[in-house]
Amino acid sequence: MEQRQAERARSDLQADLARADRILGLPEVQAALQAVEEAERDRVFCRHGFGHLMDVARAAWILTLEEGRDLPKDLVYASALLHDLGRADQYRDGTPHDLAGADLARRLLPRAGFSEEETEAAVLAIRGHRRKTTEDDVRLPASETVGSSKDAGPSKIVGTPETAGPTNNVGATETGGGPEAEPGPLSRDLSSVLRRADKLTRPCLRCPASADCHWPEEKKNRALTL
Ligand SMILES: [Fe+2]
Ligand SMILES: [Fe+2]
Repeated sequence: MEQRQAERARSDLQADLARADRILGLPEVQAALQAVEEAERDRVFCRHGFGHLMDVARAAWILTLEEGRDLPKDLVYASALLHDLGRADQYRDGTPHDLAGADLARRLLPRAGFSEEETEAAVLAIRGHRRKTTEDDVRLPASETVGSSKDAGPSKIVGTPETAGPTNNVGATETGGGPEAEPGPLSRDLSSVLRRADKLTRPCLRCPASADCHWPEEKKNRALTL
């Protein structure tokens, strides 16, 4: 009986993440993941391979549950899995990884069964994941919530050891363009949990390269968060 319950629980967990699992299995995702992990093999600062992507996915899901947000679990995981894969392009040709990752999400999420609304929410969350975290970025107006990164987050610190990859990292990006539509609750919530999870999972507490890291001291995680 107990074993049957355990098996059912496992299959339920897998079913909850079915679409995210499909994303992970796509050849484009596997290729980008491999490219990022190979490019960062000798990197002493934060890496952006599978471990980081899953850290962010789980932390974003913890935030979703703790804050009572209404987000599909597999959308949270799929967005987290994709959020840094644009680094494959960044290391190859300098394309800002938030923009490259958003493009990847727009192309791949529908193929895994995500709706147009879900895909757009993920695209915006990935495009904005390098932005500053504010106390309540969920309720920011559209002009602050949507769009490319222009914050003083890690990726803006060009050429510092913390952010420099095997090839030159690039600074925050500007997409330009006119005003964008007000994001809906799905988009705001997903952007909020993804952005904060990305920062809260930095392992500064046990990082051997912490002394050389140019990430501002006040932003380093010096105590357990989640
Ligand atoms: Fe990133
Ligand atoms: Fe990240």
